[in-house]
Amino acid sequence: MIHPVILCGGSGTRLWPSSRKAYPKQFAPLIGRESLYQRTLRRFSGGGFAAPLVMTGNEFRFMATEQAAEIGLSDARVVVEPLGRDTAPAILAAALLLERDDPEALMLVAPSDHVIADLPAFLAAVEAGRPAACAGALVTFGITPDRPETGYGYLELTAPPAGTAPVPLTSFREKPDLATARAMLAAGTYLWNAGIFLFRAADAIAAFETHAPELLAPCRAAIAEGQTDLGFFRLAEAAYAGARAISFDYAVMEKADRVMAVPLEGGWSDLGSWDALWAAAGPDAAGVVTDGAVTAIDCRDSYLRSEDESMQLVGLGLEGVVAVAMRDAVLVADKSRAQEVKTVVETLRADG
Ligand code: GDD
Ligand code: MG
Repeated sequence: MIHPVILCGGSGTRLWPSSRKAYPKQFAPLIGRESLYQRTLRRFSGGGFAAPLVMTGNEFRFMATEQAAEIGLSDARVVVEPLGRDTAPAILAAALLLERDDPEALMLVAPSDHVIADLPAFLAAVEAGRPAACAGALVTFGITPDRPETGYGYLELTAPPAGTAPVPLTSFREKPDLATARAMLAAGTYLWNAGIFLFRAADAIAAFETHAPELLAPCRAAIAEGQTDLGFFRLAEAAYAGARAISFDYAVMEKADRVMAVPLEGGWSDLGSWDALWAAAGPDAAGVVTDGAVTAIDCRDSYLRSEDESMQLVGLGLEGVVAVAMRDAVLVADKSRAQEVKTVVETLRADG
């Protein structure tokens, strides 16, 4: 049985103002009525998977259990990270917890900020990766790139992909600069890392022992001294604070040798920014997406969203604009600069 490990501790600043420090994007209903976190949980609710292990921050723990209960999935085990240490310590803690119960446990690490439109294709890719993972590989899922995105990891394949057969990697390159991303796109031998991983917990731990050994002691201690509290398992703060904050991609994936990629053609998109949300929502013939109490007149290539029923948003003759209206904040931006919202928010600092 595969154990889904849901990562939902990030803060998603590029989707401000809908995504806030206290209410990050994975918990917001960005597309449709359910949150991305709920859509992620549903992906694993159809049988064949163990109850998910949800790794999240202290401030999100109630949201994680309430939103799971809201869609009738209350078997999730929620593990609380007392402070954010990025994904490497979170994945290692999950691996240690799973391995303690079952040394053969297979884990599927799933971020909570993606959309996967084609569920059967995704499940088929997971099945295709399972034998490689059972044989000791760290399996990642690869997306055919269509632009020189600098916010993703790139998987260099040893051979062209054929269907969903796992392909060994030559290299894994996390968040390249633009020139490198352009060169990798042009080379045609790279896939984007979807951020989803399948491996045995024991193999993940062994990879940490080789490539990031300093994380082992703090994570082991955080579990040993951790406590069950109101139904959550809370990692011990003093110990977990000693873990270096680093992402799994940098700490392990860039360095590990036994990595294989399964091509994933399942309508994957990382809803990291407003332009990505615009693309995933399906623009109309004029390239316009509206959501909420919005009227768009003679607009082109724009994303218009109002999150407050009493806030009428009207766009007239706009082109290449993102406008997001909330009760307490409004964003109006050039759509081609959607990535920069992150820096604006960091500068604003107000409320995240
Ligand atoms: N539990 C927990 N704790 N989750 C976290 C933490 C943390 O400290 N930090 C981030 N996360 C969650 C986020 O909520 C998200 O669901 C997931 O982990 C990935 O983190 P991001 O911060 O969104 O990573 P990224 O988008 O920059 O890069 C990753 O995803 C890309 C694809 O979307 C990498 O894996 C890239 O290689 C990949 O291309
Ligand atoms: Mg992300």
